[in-house]
Amino acid sequence: AVITVNTAETAAVVPATLHGIFFEEISHAGEGGLYAEMVQNRGFEESRIPAGTKLENGFLVPTPSKPHFMLQPQPSDWKLEWPYNSQWPAWHMETSGNATMQLQLTQRRPLNEATPNSLQISISKAEEKGRAAIVNEGFWGMNAIAGDVYNLSFYLRTDNNFKGPLTVSLQTADNKILASHTFTGTRHPLWKKYSCQLVPAQSDPKAKLVLSFGSGGTCWLDFVSLFPAKTFKGRVNGLRNDIASLIDSLRPSFIRWPGGCFVEGITIESAPNWKNTIGPVEKRPGTFSPWGYWSSDGLGYHEYLQFCEDVHADALFVFNAGVSCEYRSGTFVPDDSIAPYIQNALDAIEYAIGPVTSTWGRVRAENGHPAPFPLKYVEVGNEQHGPRYAKRYNVFYDAIHQRYPDITIMASMGIGDVNKHTLDSMKKVDMVDEHAYKDAFWSVRNFDHFDKYKRGRWDMYVGEYATNAGVGAGNMRAALSDAIYILSMEKNADLVKMSSYAPLLVNENDVDWPVNLIHYDASRSFARISYYAIKMLSENKAAVNYPTSVNILKDSNPAPAFSGGIGLGTWDTQAEYKDIKVTSSNKVLYENRTGDWTFPRGKWNVSGSSLAQTAEGAQLLAMLKGHSFDTYTLTLKARKTGG
Ligand code: AHR
Repeated sequence: AVITVNTAETAAVVPATLHGIFFEEISHAGEGGLYAEMVQNRGFEESRIPAGTKLENGFLVPTPSKPHFMLQPQPSDWKLEWPYNSQWPAWHMETSGNATMQLQLTQRRPLNEATPNSLQISISKAEEKGRAAIVNEGFWGMNAIAGDVYNLSFYLRTDNNFKGPLTVSLQTADNKILASHTFTGTRHPLWKKYSCQLVPAQSDPKAKLVLSFGSGGTCWLDFVSLFPAKTFKGRVNGLRNDIASLIDSLRPSFIRWPGGCFVEGITIESAPNWKNTIGPVEKRPGTFSPWGYWSSDGLGYHEYLQFCEDVHADALFVFNAGVSCEYRSGTFVPDDSIAPYIQNALDAIEYAIGPVTSTWGRVRAENGHPAPFPLKYVEVGNEQHGPRYAKRYNVFYDAIHQRYPDITIMASMGIGDVNKHTLDSMKKVDMVDEHAYKDAFWSVRNFDHFDKYKRGRWDMYVGEYATNAGVGAGNMRAALSDAIYILSMEKNADLVKMSSYAPLLVNENDVDWPVNLIHYDASRSFARISYYAIKMLSENKAAVNYPTSVNILKDSNPAPAFSGGIGLGTWDTQAEYKDIKVTSSNKVLYENRTGDWTFPRGKWNVSGSSLAQTAEGAQLLAMLKGHSFDTYTLTLKARKTGG
């Protein structure tokens, strides 16, 4: 090949903003992840049915289908199963001897109106030795480190029969006490806050939190919180040091928050609202994530902005544009009812950067941060597109731009090529957000992807990208593909100004998406190789990119009938393979069809006699036969033969 570098032409400057972070509450990214809280379901709110839905035969109705739809082919009657089989998920009771307990979730005399549930605990205890305890399991265990300090707090009210004491302890699975503290004088008819520090004598990565009741009587418990004193930058209500440090060491130029599909909500009523995520943590009602669990919103808007500041990143806030992901295509609130959504977006900006004399700037100052936060970008919804969205986007754009001309306003788009979407009916787009989940080496085959875009109308933000098919849970092939994709962004630096890999985080105990960047459980964390590819390319960015042309000298061999193959994810055939059949456990999944075939995780057999007629087809068949792979997309392009 001959590569010609044209230094006479103007070089595109590779922007400092190119690499950022995408955060979404998916796979317990915040709750049980980045957010350092160790108690799961601390406010007993997790079994609440999200607003705008009801439970029918164990399924949520209406069906919030969009996020899961993308993971695998769905039966048409697919529904979101309610994930909890207990009224108090992550809690259980442990009794011994003569002690008995009864638990009941109640909304009577709540701690506050925003978080209506508390746990009523009725204890009967004939002898002092009996164990009457309730236990929090944490997020699949709690990481107790010998000598470290853990701040515990809870709210309690009691009847007159309860004499106490109440002992809180960190224990091993087999009830060995690692740290404990006893509260006496706990009889109190009104809600009262108790706090103490626990310092484990020994480490246990899977400890549990135990509250033992020393006498009979009835107690009401709410908002039980256990936090490591060591958080990222020592922030109160802060972030897990190891995970935040992994993010920090990518030196992101911006952080996008809070999603993702999370922004859309499974219904418009249960969609996230930043105003419910600020102020005292025990008054935050929480948000049901479309990924099937509750977020306590302890990592709320303020904490997010604080994190941006702590890692010297700009903030990119994505707000709900009055569209939820209910019913596959998204449900729009009527156009004449969106004024509150616009106001909410304006208020969010004011909270971040408004003067302390403004309504929301004052609230920010009251929350401990009088100086403005580094909010630089906002995005109008997530993955919405089409004419209806375009119309809505225009209204948001006008309102925001008029008040905040320096804020960059981003238009969300669906997954894939933004050229397919209705950008022409949008009045003004500062930046457009293209999402790109691709199979291995798509980036090689489509290295010219960004070259094809017209210039001058908008800049591009690749808001979610990852090689996530044909690469297991992420491997060297994925990292190479991601790296090549990043190089194609650099090559088009005049257009592509920002990018963020997605999803960022995954708790190994609740995986909602096949390929993720940073993995962890309660005590451990590690980053996949794509993380290091991004880090390397970010730390060694080209300063400028001169136009180049590549002239590949043709060899005498004919072009192969297909490119790709096993593990390469997408297989483009140029031949006609009519009788191809894909089976699993003798069930035919696909037959005689062209187009994109996406196989879910599992073991699949591919057969087809016409496929075997070419040497390449036969080779591919041999490789595919009985092969077990994660997610695999096979694209068959049938050649038209006459007619
Ligand atoms: O990153 C996972 C999901 O992929 C996001 O929630 C959504 O925006 C995208 O489709």
